[in-house]
Amino acid sequence: MTENVVAIADRRNSELQHRKMYIDGNWVDAISGEVFETINPYNGQAWATAPLAGPADVKKAVDAARRALSGPWGSMSAAQRGVLIRRLAALIEPHADELARIETTDNGKVIRETRGQMAGLPATYEFFAGAADKIFGDTISAPQTNFFTYTRREPIGVVAAILPWNSPLFLLASKLAPALAAGCTFVAKPAEQTPSSTLEFAKLIDEAGFPPGVFNVVTGAGDTGAALTAEPGVDKVTFTGSTATGIAVMKSAADHIAEVTLELGGKSPNIIFPDADIDAAVNGVMAGIFAATGQTCIAGSRLLVHESIRDAVVERLAQRAPQIKMGDPLDIETEMGPIAFAEQLEKVRFYVDLGVSEGATVVCGGERPQDTDLADGYFFQPTILSGVDNSMRVAREEIFGPVLSVITFTSEEEAVQIGNDTTYGLAAAVWTKDVQRAHRVAHRLNAGTIWINSYRVLANNVPYGGFGQSGIGRENGIEGLDAYLQTKSIWVELTGESRDPFKLG
Ligand code: NAI
Ligand code: MG
Repeated sequence: MTENVVAIADRRNSELQHRKMYIDGNWVDAISGEVFETINPYNGQAWATAPLAGPADVKKAVDAARRALSGPWGSMSAAQRGVLIRRLAALIEPHADELARIETTDNGKVIRETRGQMAGLPATYEFFAGAADKIFGDTISAPQTNFFTYTRREPIGVVAAILPWNSPLFLLASKLAPALAAGCTFVAKPAEQTPSSTLEFAKLIDEAGFPPGVFNVVTGAGDTGAALTAEPGVDKVTFTGSTATGIAVMKSAADHIAEVTLELGGKSPNIIFPDADIDAAVNGVMAGIFAATGQTCIAGSRLLVHESIRDAVVERLAQRAPQIKMGDPLDIETEMGPIAFAEQLEKVRFYVDLGVSEGATVVCGGERPQDTDLADGYFFQPTILSGVDNSMRVAREEIFGPVLSVITFTSEEEAVQIGNDTTYGLAAAVWTKDVQRAHRVAHRLNAGTIWINSYRVLANNVPYGGFGQSGIGRENGIEGLDAYLQTKSIWVELTGESRDPFKLG
Protein backbone atom coordinates (compact mmCIF):
# COMPACT_ATOMS: atom_id res chain seq x y z
CA MET A 1 0.00 0.00 0.00
CA THR A 2 1.32 3.45 -0.81
CA GLU A 3 1.32 6.07 1.91
CA ASN A 4 -1.51 7.86 0.20
CA VAL A 5 -3.76 4.82 0.17
CA VAL A 6 -3.03 4.18 3.84
CA ALA A 7 -3.97 7.78 4.63
CA ILE A 8 -7.25 7.47 2.76
CA ALA A 9 -8.00 4.15 4.44
CA ASP A 10 -7.27 5.65 7.88
CA ARG A 11 -9.45 8.65 7.22
CA ARG A 12 -12.30 6.50 6.01
CA ASN A 13 -11.84 4.21 8.98
CA SER A 14 -12.05 7.10 11.39
CA GLU A 15 -15.29 8.27 9.80
CA LEU A 16 -16.93 4.90 10.38
CA GLN A 17 -18.87 4.30 13.56
CA HIS A 18 -17.44 1.27 15.33
CA ARG A 19 -19.85 -0.61 17.53
CA LYS A 20 -19.23 -3.45 19.94
CA MET A 21 -21.23 -6.55 20.77
CA TYR A 22 -23.05 -6.88 24.08
CA ILE A 23 -22.32 -10.20 25.81
CA ASP A 24 -22.86 -10.95 29.52
CA GLY A 25 -23.27 -7.26 30.27
CA ASN A 26 -19.96 -6.33 28.62
CA TRP A 27 -19.13 -4.43 25.42
CA VAL A 28 -16.84 -6.68 23.45
CA ASP A 29 -15.12 -7.18 20.12
CA ALA A 30 -15.07 -10.56 18.41
CA ILE A 31 -12.40 -12.86 19.84
CA SER A 32 -10.79 -12.85 16.39
CA GLY A 33 -10.86 -9.05 16.30
CA GLU A 34 -12.57 -9.21 12.90
CA VAL A 35 -15.20 -6.68 11.92
CA PHE A 36 -17.53 -6.18 8.96
CA GLU A 37 -18.85 -3.00 7.38
CA THR A 38 -22.42 -1.97 6.95
CA ILE A 39 -23.33 0.02 3.87
CA ASN A 40 -25.73 2.96 3.70
CA PRO A 41 -27.92 1.97 0.71
CA TYR A 42 -28.71 5.61 -0.08
CA ASN A 43 -25.12 6.35 -1.11
CA GLY A 44 -23.48 2.93 -1.32
CA GLN A 45 -20.89 3.95 1.31
CA ALA A 46 -19.81 2.02 4.38
CA TRP A 47 -20.80 4.03 7.45
CA ALA A 48 -20.38 1.67 10.40
CA THR A 49 -18.72 -1.56 11.46
CA ALA A 50 -19.70 -4.38 13.78
CA PRO A 51 -17.70 -7.31 15.16
CA LEU A 52 -17.78 -10.52 13.16
CA ALA A 53 -18.70 -13.15 15.76
CA GLY A 54 -17.42 -16.68 15.35
CA PRO A 55 -18.62 -19.86 17.09
CA ALA A 56 -16.58 -19.09 20.24
CA ASP A 57 -18.21 -15.66 20.61
CA VAL A 58 -21.62 -17.22 20.07
CA LYS A 59 -20.92 -19.88 22.70
CA LYS A 60 -19.86 -17.19 25.14
CA ALA A 61 -23.19 -15.41 24.65
CA VAL A 62 -25.25 -18.59 25.00
CA ASP A 63 -23.32 -19.63 28.12
CA ALA A 64 -23.94 -16.18 29.61
CA ALA A 65 -27.65 -16.48 28.83
CA ARG A 66 -27.76 -19.94 30.49
CA ARG A 67 -26.02 -18.68 33.61
CA ALA A 68 -28.40 -15.71 33.78
CA LEU A 69 -31.38 -18.09 33.94
CA SER A 70 -30.24 -19.31 37.34
CA GLY A 71 -28.91 -15.93 38.50
CA PRO A 72 -30.84 -12.97 39.93
CA TRP A 73 -33.08 -12.87 36.85
CA GLY A 74 -34.32 -16.40 37.52
CA SER A 75 -35.33 -15.56 41.08
CA MET A 76 -37.13 -12.32 40.27
CA SER A 77 -40.88 -12.21 40.58
CA ALA A 78 -42.91 -11.74 37.42
CA ALA A 79 -43.88 -8.28 38.66
CA GLN A 80 -40.20 -7.35 39.07
CA ARG A 81 -39.54 -8.47 35.50
CA GLY A 82 -42.44 -6.27 34.45
CA VAL A 83 -40.87 -3.30 36.23
CA LEU A 84 -37.58 -3.78 34.34
CA ILE A 85 -39.31 -4.15 30.98
CA ARG A 86 -41.33 -1.01 31.68
CA ARG A 87 -38.12 0.84 32.53
CA LEU A 88 -36.75 -0.25 29.17
CA ALA A 89 -39.89 1.04 27.44
CA ALA A 90 -39.43 4.42 29.13
CA LEU A 91 -35.78 4.57 28.04
CA ILE A 92 -36.66 3.82 24.41
CA GLU A 93 -38.97 6.80 24.15
CA PRO A 94 -36.39 9.61 24.26
CA HIS A 95 -34.06 7.57 22.02
CA ALA A 96 -36.67 6.57 19.44
CA ASP A 97 -35.65 9.22 16.94
CA GLU A 98 -31.97 8.35 17.16
CA LEU A 99 -32.74 4.63 16.74
CA ALA A 100 -34.87 5.45 13.68
CA ARG A 101 -32.03 7.41 12.09
CA ILE A 102 -29.55 4.62 12.73
CA GLU A 103 -31.83 1.97 11.29
CA THR A 104 -32.68 4.07 8.24
CA THR A 105 -28.97 4.58 7.61
CA ASP A 106 -28.42 0.80 7.77
CA ASN A 107 -31.36 -0.35 5.62
CA GLY A 108 -32.65 2.68 3.69
CA LYS A 109 -36.19 2.35 4.98
CA VAL A 110 -37.88 5.76 4.95
CA ILE A 111 -37.69 7.67 8.22
CA ARG A 112 -41.47 8.13 8.11
CA GLU A 113 -41.82 4.45 8.74
CA THR A 114 -38.83 3.82 11.03
CA ARG A 115 -39.89 6.76 13.20
CA GLY A 116 -43.37 5.34 13.49
CA GLN A 117 -42.00 1.90 14.28
CA MET A 118 -39.65 3.20 16.98
CA ALA A 119 -42.37 5.39 18.48
CA GLY A 120 -44.46 2.23 18.77
CA LEU A 121 -41.80 0.11 20.48
CA PRO A 122 -42.50 1.30 24.05
CA ALA A 123 -46.13 0.18 23.73
CA THR A 124 -45.04 -3.32 22.75
CA TYR A 125 -42.66 -3.59 25.69
CA GLU A 126 -45.37 -2.19 27.97
CA PHE A 127 -47.96 -4.64 26.70
CA PHE A 128 -45.74 -7.60 27.59
CA ALA A 129 -44.50 -5.95 30.81
CA GLY A 130 -48.14 -5.86 31.87
CA ALA A 131 -48.61 -9.48 30.85
CA ALA A 132 -45.64 -10.75 32.92
CA ASP A 133 -47.59 -11.06 36.20
CA LYS A 134 -50.64 -12.47 34.43
CA ILE A 135 -48.94 -15.73 33.55
CA PHE A 136 -50.94 -18.33 35.44
CA GLY A 137 -50.97 -22.08 35.76
CA ASP A 138 -54.08 -24.15 36.45
CA THR A 139 -55.26 -26.33 39.25
CA ILE A 140 -56.66 -29.50 37.74
CA SER A 141 -59.14 -31.90 39.22
CA ALA A 142 -57.35 -35.07 38.20
CA PRO A 143 -59.15 -38.44 38.55
CA GLN A 144 -56.72 -39.37 41.36
CA THR A 145 -58.63 -37.63 44.14
CA ASN A 146 -55.80 -38.13 46.62
CA PHE A 147 -53.70 -35.68 44.65
CA PHE A 148 -53.62 -31.93 44.41
CA THR A 149 -52.52 -31.29 40.83
CA TYR A 150 -51.47 -28.00 39.35
CA THR A 151 -49.43 -26.54 36.52
CA ARG A 152 -46.78 -23.87 36.42
CA ARG A 153 -45.95 -21.85 33.31
CA GLU A 154 -42.17 -21.63 33.26
CA PRO A 155 -39.79 -19.85 30.90
CA ILE A 156 -38.64 -22.03 28.03
CA GLY A 157 -35.04 -21.00 28.75
CA VAL A 158 -32.43 -19.52 26.44
CA VAL A 159 -33.90 -17.95 23.30
CA ALA A 160 -31.88 -17.35 20.14
CA ALA A 161 -33.38 -14.76 17.80
CA ILE A 162 -32.22 -14.48 14.20
CA LEU A 163 -33.47 -11.31 12.59
CA PRO A 164 -33.74 -9.86 9.08
CA TRP A 165 -32.73 -6.44 7.83
CA ASN A 166 -36.11 -4.99 6.89
CA SER A 167 -37.40 -3.98 10.37
CA PRO A 168 -34.73 -4.95 12.91
CA LEU A 169 -35.98 -3.37 16.14
CA PHE A 170 -39.68 -3.67 15.36
CA LEU A 171 -39.29 -7.41 14.77
CA LEU A 172 -36.96 -7.78 17.75
CA ALA A 173 -39.66 -6.28 20.01
CA SER A 174 -42.25 -8.94 19.17
CA LYS A 175 -39.70 -11.59 20.18
CA LEU A 176 -37.80 -9.96 23.04
CA ALA A 177 -40.69 -8.35 24.93
CA PRO A 178 -42.65 -11.61 25.44
CA ALA A 179 -39.45 -13.60 26.05
CA LEU A 180 -38.43 -11.24 28.87
CA ALA A 181 -41.97 -11.22 30.27
CA ALA A 182 -41.87 -15.03 30.34
CA GLY A 183 -38.54 -14.99 32.19
CA CYS A 184 -36.37 -16.25 29.34
CA THR A 185 -32.88 -15.03 28.50
CA PHE A 186 -31.96 -13.97 25.01
CA VAL A 187 -29.25 -13.91 22.36
CA ALA A 188 -30.06 -11.75 19.33
CA LYS A 189 -28.32 -12.03 15.96
CA PRO A 190 -29.32 -9.09 13.77
CA ALA A 191 -28.85 -9.31 10.00
CA GLU A 192 -25.39 -8.55 8.61
CA GLN A 193 -26.83 -5.58 6.69
CA THR A 194 -28.32 -4.01 9.83
CA PRO A 195 -26.39 -4.67 13.04
CA SER A 196 -26.29 -1.04 14.18
CA SER A 197 -29.70 -0.37 15.70
CA THR A 198 -29.69 -3.57 17.77
CA LEU A 199 -26.25 -2.77 19.19
CA GLU A 200 -27.44 0.75 20.00
CA PHE A 201 -30.58 -0.68 21.59
CA ALA A 202 -28.42 -2.89 23.84
CA LYS A 203 -27.23 0.30 25.55
CA LEU A 204 -30.79 0.87 26.73
CA ILE A 205 -31.06 -2.70 28.01
CA ASP A 206 -27.85 -2.08 29.94
CA GLU A 207 -29.13 1.22 31.30
CA ALA A 208 -32.45 -0.31 32.32
CA GLY A 209 -30.53 -2.60 34.67
CA PHE A 210 -31.24 -6.09 33.38
CA PRO A 211 -28.80 -8.51 35.02
CA PRO A 212 -25.79 -9.48 32.85
CA GLY A 213 -26.51 -12.25 30.34
CA VAL A 214 -30.27 -11.70 30.17
CA PHE A 215 -29.89 -9.99 26.79
CA ASN A 216 -26.91 -10.48 24.49
CA VAL A 217 -26.19 -9.45 20.91
CA VAL A 218 -23.82 -11.25 18.57
CA THR A 219 -23.24 -9.81 15.11
CA GLY A 220 -22.28 -11.44 11.84
CA ALA A 221 -23.80 -13.11 8.79
CA GLY A 222 -25.32 -16.53 8.12
CA ASP A 223 -22.36 -18.42 9.63
CA THR A 224 -22.84 -16.60 12.92
CA GLY A 225 -26.57 -17.38 12.78
CA ALA A 226 -25.86 -21.04 12.03
CA ALA A 227 -23.43 -21.25 14.97
CA LEU A 228 -26.16 -19.82 17.20
CA THR A 229 -28.95 -22.18 16.13
CA ALA A 230 -26.53 -25.12 16.53
CA GLU A 231 -25.62 -24.26 20.14
CA PRO A 232 -27.00 -27.02 22.37
CA GLY A 233 -27.54 -24.43 25.12
CA VAL A 234 -30.29 -22.78 23.06
CA ASP A 235 -33.81 -23.94 24.03
CA LYS A 236 -35.78 -21.98 21.47
CA VAL A 237 -35.00 -20.39 18.14
CA THR A 238 -37.18 -17.59 16.86
CA PHE A 239 -36.46 -16.58 13.29
CA THR A 240 -37.76 -14.05 10.79
CA GLY A 241 -36.46 -14.15 7.24
CA SER A 242 -36.60 -16.20 4.07
CA THR A 243 -38.24 -19.61 3.85
CA ALA A 244 -34.99 -21.16 2.57
CA THR A 245 -33.07 -20.00 5.64
CA GLY A 246 -36.03 -20.90 7.86
CA ILE A 247 -35.69 -24.51 6.69
CA ALA A 248 -31.97 -24.50 7.58
CA VAL A 249 -32.75 -22.96 10.97
CA MET A 250 -35.41 -25.55 11.75
CA LYS A 251 -33.12 -28.44 10.75
CA SER A 252 -30.36 -27.08 12.95
CA ALA A 253 -32.75 -26.62 15.89
CA ALA A 254 -33.96 -30.20 15.38
CA ASP A 255 -30.46 -31.51 16.11
CA HIS A 256 -30.87 -30.50 19.73
CA ILE A 257 -34.69 -30.44 19.95
CA ALA A 258 -34.98 -26.68 20.29
CA GLU A 259 -38.43 -25.24 19.73
CA VAL A 260 -38.89 -22.93 16.76
CA THR A 261 -41.05 -20.00 15.81
CA LEU A 262 -40.64 -19.11 12.15
CA GLU A 263 -41.90 -15.98 10.43
CA LEU A 264 -41.09 -16.47 6.77
CA GLY A 265 -41.92 -15.13 3.37
CA GLY A 266 -45.15 -14.42 1.57
CA LYS A 267 -46.81 -13.89 -1.79
CA SER A 268 -49.89 -12.25 -0.42
CA PRO A 269 -52.92 -11.54 -2.61
CA ASN A 270 -54.72 -8.22 -2.59
CA ILE A 271 -58.15 -9.18 -4.00
CA ILE A 272 -60.40 -6.50 -5.46
CA PHE A 273 -64.04 -7.32 -6.25
CA PRO A 274 -66.08 -5.17 -8.65
CA ASP A 275 -68.19 -3.71 -5.82
CA ALA A 276 -65.14 -2.37 -3.96
CA ASP A 277 -64.41 1.29 -3.27
CA ILE A 278 -61.83 1.55 -6.05
CA ASP A 279 -59.99 4.56 -4.65
CA ALA A 280 -59.59 2.91 -1.26
CA ALA A 281 -58.51 -0.33 -2.91
CA VAL A 282 -55.91 1.40 -5.08
CA ASN A 283 -54.56 3.11 -1.98
CA GLY A 284 -54.36 -0.27 -0.25
CA VAL A 285 -52.54 -1.81 -3.19
CA MET A 286 -50.00 1.04 -3.09
CA ALA A 287 -49.49 0.49 0.66
CA GLY A 288 -49.18 -3.23 0.12
CA ILE A 289 -46.44 -3.19 -2.49
CA PHE A 290 -44.67 0.17 -2.53
CA ALA A 291 -44.48 1.02 1.19
CA ALA A 292 -41.08 0.06 2.56
CA THR A 293 -40.01 -0.33 -1.10
CA GLY A 294 -41.90 -3.63 -1.13
CA GLN A 295 -39.40 -5.14 1.28
CA THR A 296 -41.86 -6.58 3.72
CA CYS A 297 -42.94 -10.14 4.33
CA ILE A 298 -46.58 -9.02 4.19
CA ALA A 299 -46.16 -7.27 0.82
CA GLY A 300 -49.33 -7.51 -1.26
CA SER A 301 -47.29 -8.64 -4.22
CA ARG A 302 -50.15 -10.27 -6.14
CA LEU A 303 -52.98 -7.99 -7.19
CA LEU A 304 -56.01 -10.16 -7.97
CA VAL A 305 -58.51 -7.91 -9.70
CA HIS A 306 -61.87 -8.76 -11.27
CA GLU A 307 -61.55 -8.46 -15.04
CA SER A 308 -64.44 -5.97 -15.25
CA ILE A 309 -62.50 -3.36 -13.22
CA ARG A 310 -58.98 -4.35 -14.22
CA ASP A 311 -58.41 -1.43 -16.59
CA ALA A 312 -59.78 1.15 -14.17
CA VAL A 313 -57.61 -0.16 -11.32
CA VAL A 314 -54.42 -0.55 -13.35
CA GLU A 315 -54.89 2.90 -14.90
CA ARG A 316 -55.09 4.54 -11.46
CA LEU A 317 -52.13 2.58 -10.18
CA ALA A 318 -50.09 3.45 -13.25
CA GLN A 319 -50.88 7.09 -12.65
CA ARG A 320 -49.97 7.08 -8.97
CA ALA A 321 -46.93 4.80 -8.90
CA PRO A 322 -44.59 7.04 -10.94
CA GLN A 323 -45.48 9.96 -8.65
CA ILE A 324 -44.09 8.23 -5.59
CA LYS A 325 -41.39 10.45 -4.15
CA MET A 326 -38.09 8.58 -4.11
CA GLY A 327 -35.12 10.12 -2.36
CA ASP A 328 -33.08 10.33 0.80
CA PRO A 329 -34.77 8.00 3.27
CA LEU A 330 -33.79 10.35 6.10
CA ASP A 331 -35.96 13.07 4.51
CA ILE A 332 -39.46 12.98 6.01
CA GLU A 333 -40.93 13.86 2.58
CA THR A 334 -39.51 10.73 0.95
CA GLU A 335 -42.07 8.00 0.29
CA MET A 336 -39.86 5.29 -1.15
CA GLY A 337 -36.24 4.71 -0.21
CA PRO A 338 -33.62 2.57 -1.89
CA ILE A 339 -33.52 -1.22 -1.91
CA ALA A 340 -31.62 -2.25 1.21
CA PHE A 341 -28.49 -3.70 -0.41
CA ALA A 342 -26.87 -4.39 -3.75
CA GLU A 343 -27.70 -8.12 -4.04
CA GLN A 344 -31.33 -7.38 -3.26
CA LEU A 345 -31.41 -4.76 -6.03
CA GLU A 346 -30.02 -7.37 -8.44
CA LYS A 347 -32.70 -9.81 -7.29
CA VAL A 348 -35.45 -7.28 -8.05
CA ARG A 349 -34.01 -6.56 -11.48
CA PHE A 350 -33.71 -10.28 -12.18
CA TYR A 351 -37.39 -10.88 -11.39
CA VAL A 352 -38.61 -7.99 -13.54
CA ASP A 353 -36.65 -9.35 -16.50
CA LEU A 354 -37.90 -12.84 -15.72
CA GLY A 355 -41.50 -11.61 -15.64
CA VAL A 356 -41.10 -10.02 -19.05
CA SER A 357 -39.54 -13.17 -20.47
CA GLU A 358 -42.47 -15.15 -19.01
CA GLY A 359 -44.88 -12.90 -20.95
CA ALA A 360 -45.79 -10.13 -18.50
CA THR A 361 -46.03 -6.49 -19.61
CA VAL A 362 -44.33 -3.65 -17.75
CA VAL A 363 -47.08 -1.09 -17.15
CA CYS A 364 -44.76 1.30 -15.35
CA GLY A 365 -41.30 1.29 -13.78
CA GLY A 366 -39.17 -1.72 -14.55
CA GLU A 367 -35.78 -0.08 -14.15
CA ARG A 368 -33.61 2.09 -11.97
CA PRO A 369 -34.65 5.78 -11.85
CA GLN A 370 -32.84 8.16 -14.21
CA ASP A 371 -32.43 11.02 -11.71
CA THR A 372 -28.74 11.69 -11.17
CA ASP A 373 -29.25 12.48 -7.49
CA LEU A 374 -30.44 8.90 -6.97
CA ALA A 375 -27.59 7.34 -8.94
CA ASP A 376 -25.47 6.32 -5.93
CA GLY A 377 -28.31 4.61 -4.08
CA TYR A 378 -29.83 1.19 -4.74
CA PHE A 379 -33.06 2.66 -6.09
CA PHE A 380 -35.56 0.85 -8.28
CA GLN A 381 -38.73 2.34 -9.75
CA PRO A 382 -42.15 1.28 -8.48
CA THR A 383 -43.02 -1.41 -10.99
CA ILE A 384 -46.29 -2.90 -12.18
CA LEU A 385 -46.37 -6.07 -14.26
CA SER A 386 -49.68 -6.84 -15.95
CA GLY A 387 -50.81 -9.91 -17.82
CA VAL A 388 -49.35 -12.12 -15.13
CA ASP A 389 -50.58 -15.67 -14.80
CA ASN A 390 -50.43 -17.20 -11.34
CA SER A 391 -48.22 -20.00 -12.63
CA MET A 392 -45.41 -17.57 -13.55
CA ARG A 393 -42.43 -17.38 -11.22
CA VAL A 394 -43.08 -13.67 -10.55
CA ALA A 395 -46.42 -14.74 -9.10
CA ARG A 396 -45.02 -17.62 -7.07
CA GLU A 397 -41.68 -16.47 -5.66
CA GLU A 398 -41.05 -13.73 -3.14
CA ILE A 399 -39.36 -10.81 -4.92
CA PHE A 400 -39.14 -8.57 -1.85
CA GLY A 401 -39.13 -5.34 -3.81
CA PRO A 402 -41.49 -2.78 -5.36
CA VAL A 403 -42.86 -5.11 -8.01
CA LEU A 404 -46.59 -5.76 -8.33
CA SER A 405 -47.98 -8.65 -10.40
CA VAL A 406 -51.47 -8.04 -11.77
CA ILE A 407 -53.63 -11.14 -12.22
CA THR A 408 -57.30 -11.14 -13.24
CA PHE A 409 -60.19 -13.34 -12.10
CA THR A 410 -63.79 -13.72 -13.19
CA SER A 411 -65.60 -15.15 -10.15
CA GLU A 412 -65.38 -15.27 -6.38
CA GLU A 413 -64.58 -18.95 -6.62
CA GLU A 414 -61.66 -18.26 -8.94
CA ALA A 415 -60.39 -15.41 -6.75
CA VAL A 416 -60.23 -17.75 -3.75
CA GLN A 417 -58.63 -20.49 -5.83
CA ILE A 418 -55.88 -18.21 -7.17
CA GLY A 419 -55.45 -16.54 -3.78
CA ASN A 420 -54.78 -19.92 -2.19
CA ASP A 421 -52.65 -21.22 -5.07
CA THR A 422 -49.34 -20.45 -3.34
CA THR A 423 -46.95 -22.28 -1.05
CA TYR A 424 -47.12 -19.27 1.28
CA GLY A 425 -49.94 -18.06 3.51
CA LEU A 426 -48.90 -14.99 5.41
CA ALA A 427 -51.55 -12.39 4.58
CA ALA A 428 -54.32 -11.42 2.18
CA ALA A 429 -56.76 -8.59 1.66
CA VAL A 430 -60.32 -8.55 0.39
CA TRP A 431 -61.79 -5.37 -1.07
CA THR A 432 -65.60 -5.40 -1.30
CA LYS A 433 -68.59 -3.57 0.16
CA ASP A 434 -70.56 -6.80 0.43
CA VAL A 435 -70.26 -7.79 4.08
CA GLN A 436 -71.27 -11.40 3.43
CA ARG A 437 -68.73 -11.85 0.68
CA ALA A 438 -66.05 -10.16 2.78
CA HIS A 439 -66.31 -12.66 5.63
CA ARG A 440 -67.02 -15.64 3.36
CA VAL A 441 -63.85 -15.04 1.37
CA ALA A 442 -61.81 -14.18 4.47
CA HIS A 443 -62.75 -17.54 5.99
CA ARG A 444 -61.74 -19.43 2.86
CA LEU A 445 -58.35 -17.79 2.33
CA ASN A 446 -55.42 -19.74 3.76
CA ALA A 447 -53.42 -17.03 5.45
CA GLY A 448 -52.56 -15.96 8.99
CA THR A 449 -53.79 -12.38 8.60
CA ILE A 450 -56.69 -11.18 6.46
CA TRP A 451 -57.55 -7.52 6.03
CA ILE A 452 -60.98 -6.49 4.82
CA ASN A 453 -60.90 -3.16 2.99
CA SER A 454 -57.45 -2.36 4.31
CA TYR A 455 -53.82 -3.46 4.08
CA ARG A 456 -50.69 -3.55 6.24
CA VAL A 457 -52.19 -3.04 9.68
CA LEU A 458 -50.62 -4.79 12.68
CA ALA A 459 -50.73 -4.44 16.46
CA ASN A 460 -48.76 -5.82 19.38
CA ASN A 461 -51.83 -7.50 20.92
CA VAL A 462 -53.09 -9.18 17.74
CA PRO A 463 -51.54 -12.57 16.86
CA TYR A 464 -49.49 -12.60 13.71
CA GLY A 465 -47.94 -15.47 11.75
CA GLY A 466 -48.09 -17.66 8.70
CA PHE A 467 -50.01 -20.56 7.25
CA GLY A 468 -48.19 -22.99 4.95
CA GLN A 469 -44.57 -22.17 4.22
CA SER A 470 -44.98 -18.68 5.68
CA GLY A 471 -44.11 -20.02 9.09
CA ILE A 472 -44.78 -21.81 12.33
CA GLY A 473 -46.19 -20.26 15.48
CA ARG A 474 -47.61 -16.83 16.25
CA GLU A 475 -46.06 -13.63 17.51
CA ASN A 476 -47.76 -10.78 19.38
CA GLY A 477 -50.79 -11.04 21.63
CA ILE A 478 -51.16 -13.67 24.35
CA GLU A 479 -50.19 -16.39 21.88
CA GLY A 480 -46.93 -14.53 21.35
CA LEU A 481 -46.24 -14.88 25.08
CA ASP A 482 -47.17 -18.59 25.15
CA ALA A 483 -44.39 -19.17 22.64
CA TYR A 484 -41.81 -18.50 25.39
CA LEU A 485 -43.42 -20.60 28.12
CA GLN A 486 -43.47 -24.30 28.90
CA THR A 487 -45.85 -26.09 31.20
CA LYS A 488 -44.82 -28.08 34.24
CA SER A 489 -47.40 -30.35 35.93
CA ILE A 490 -47.00 -30.92 39.66
CA TRP A 491 -48.66 -33.79 41.54
CA VAL A 492 -48.93 -33.52 45.34
CA GLU A 493 -49.98 -36.66 47.21
CA LEU A 494 -52.35 -35.65 50.00
CA THR A 495 -53.04 -38.76 52.13
CA GLY A 496 -49.65 -40.36 52.80
CA GLU A 497 -51.08 -43.78 51.93
CA SER A 498 -48.87 -46.21 50.06
CA ARG A 499 -49.86 -47.50 46.61
CA ASP A 500 -49.23 -50.49 44.37
CA PRO A 501 -45.72 -49.75 43.09
CA PHE A 502 -46.14 -51.90 39.97
CA LYS A 503 -49.09 -50.03 38.44
CA LEU A 504 -49.24 -46.63 36.74
CA GLY A 505 -50.96 -44.28 39.21
P1 NAI B 1 -32.14 -14.64 5.13
O1 NAI B 1 -33.39 -15.34 5.55
O2 NAI B 1 -31.06 -15.48 4.54
O3 NAI B 1 -31.53 -13.84 6.38
C1 NAI B 1 -32.24 -13.55 7.56
C2 NAI B 1 -31.34 -13.76 8.76
O4 NAI B 1 -30.90 -15.11 8.81
C3 NAI B 1 -30.06 -12.92 8.74
O5 NAI B 1 -29.80 -12.51 10.06
C4 NAI B 1 -29.01 -13.90 8.27
O6 NAI B 1 -27.71 -13.59 8.68
C5 NAI B 1 -29.48 -15.17 8.95
N1 NAI B 1 -29.03 -16.42 8.34
C6 NAI B 1 -28.68 -16.66 7.04
N2 NAI B 1 -28.36 -17.95 6.88
C7 NAI B 1 -28.48 -18.55 8.09
C8 NAI B 1 -28.30 -19.89 8.57
N3 NAI B 1 -27.93 -20.88 7.76
N4 NAI B 1 -28.55 -20.13 9.86
C9 NAI B 1 -28.96 -19.17 10.70
N5 NAI B 1 -29.13 -17.89 10.31
C10 NAI B 1 -28.91 -17.58 9.02
O7 NAI B 1 -32.58 -13.49 4.14
P2 NAI B 1 -31.66 -12.57 3.20
O8 NAI B 1 -30.53 -13.38 2.65
O9 NAI B 1 -31.33 -11.34 3.94
O10 NAI B 1 -32.67 -12.21 2.04
C11 NAI B 1 -32.99 -13.16 1.04
C12 NAI B 1 -34.45 -13.12 0.74
O11 NAI B 1 -35.18 -13.54 1.88
C13 NAI B 1 -35.03 -11.76 0.43
O12 NAI B 1 -34.83 -11.43 -0.90
C14 NAI B 1 -36.48 -11.97 0.77
O13 NAI B 1 -37.15 -12.58 -0.30
C15 NAI B 1 -36.44 -12.91 1.93
N6 NAI B 1 -36.59 -12.21 3.21
C16 NAI B 1 -37.80 -12.26 3.81
C17 NAI B 1 -38.01 -11.59 4.98
C18 NAI B 1 -39.34 -11.63 5.63
O14 NAI B 1 -39.60 -10.84 6.53
N7 NAI B 1 -40.20 -12.53 5.23
C19 NAI B 1 -36.96 -10.80 5.62
C20 NAI B 1 -35.70 -10.85 4.93
C21 NAI B 1 -35.56 -11.54 3.77
MG1 MG C 1 -29.38 -15.19 2.98
